Amino acid sequence: MQGKIAFEGVSFNYSGNGSNPVLKDISFIIEPGKTVAILGTTGAGKSTLIHLIPRFYDVTAGRVTIDGINVRDLKLDFLRRQIGIALQEAILFSETVRNNICYGQPQASDDEIIAAAQAAQAHEFIKALPQSYDTIIGQRGVNLSGGQQQRIAIARALLVKPKILILDDSTSAVDVETESKLQDALDQLLQQSRNSEWGGATRIIVAQRISTVLLADKIIVLDKGRITAMGTHHELLSTSSLYQDIYRSQLGDGRHLRGDQR
Ligand SMILES: Nc1ncnc2c1ncn2[C@@H]1O[C@H](COP(=O)(O)OP(=O)(O)OP(=O)(O)O)[C@@H](O)[C@H]1O
Ligand SMILES: [Mg+2]
Repeated sequence: MQGKIAFEGVSFNYSGNGSNPVLKDISFIIEPGKTVAILGTTGAGKSTLIHLIPRFYDVTAGRVTIDGINVRDLKLDFLRRQIGIALQEAILFSETVRNNICYGQPQASDDEIIAAAQAAQAHEFIKALPQSYDTIIGQRGVNLSGGQQQRIAIARALLVKPKILILDDSTSAVDVETESKLQDALDQLLQQSRNSEWGGATRIIVAQRISTVLLADKIIVLDKGRITAMGTHHELLSTSSLYQDIYRSQLGDGRHLRGDQR
């Protein structure tokens, strides 16, 4: 699998009766290895959109393809093995940190687990836990903060070395500084992986913060289930009033903007 993703005239509604669709006529292409960010206000349909890729739901109209093949024509377990996904609400088990990270990859070596945790900016806090990677978390063990849980979920998604990596608002509870480090580490990991057996991943990042999306190859602005703008940060700054509004509204709050600092 190369990891080219295409949405072709995709509409979707949860009730299945065609009225009041949550996604309306969505079309875009993501080339293999590229990073696309999906930006939009709450309820815009971002999570719904990415859930169509691993077929948590099926489209109501149009089609989603990977490398030109309709996802409906791929074997479901094959399709899902290609996708590393950190859901908006991190789902962790009351198990050791290690088992939580290697949930999708039980045979992973310690080195691989640590590398995934390092990229996800989780290794340091895990090392500081009472039993390090063997610490039990959740109801039967240690409580983690929301941001720590998110980073374990990201490490889990990375560990499967997916061809498609989807992070759904996965850093909303992580501070901006740590998030910036995480993005840099991810860039580096995916860069290195291009020359390995893994071969890198196509990345989809759902975000509400503009600082998260600045360096994406393409930004898709979703509003009420429709794509209202698509392009790079600089393109959108000059073409999309909605993007300009989001940009201005987030500029004044002291969050540092990675792309502008480089
Ligand atoms: N399982 C579901 N059943 C019915 N409606 C749903 C379901 N999940 C989401 N919706 C509705 O679909 C719309 C889009 O929701 P979605 O979760 O995709 O938005 P979002 O852009 O991810 O929002 P947020 O930024 O808050 O995560 C909303 O109106 C939501 O209420
Ligand atoms: Mg969402």
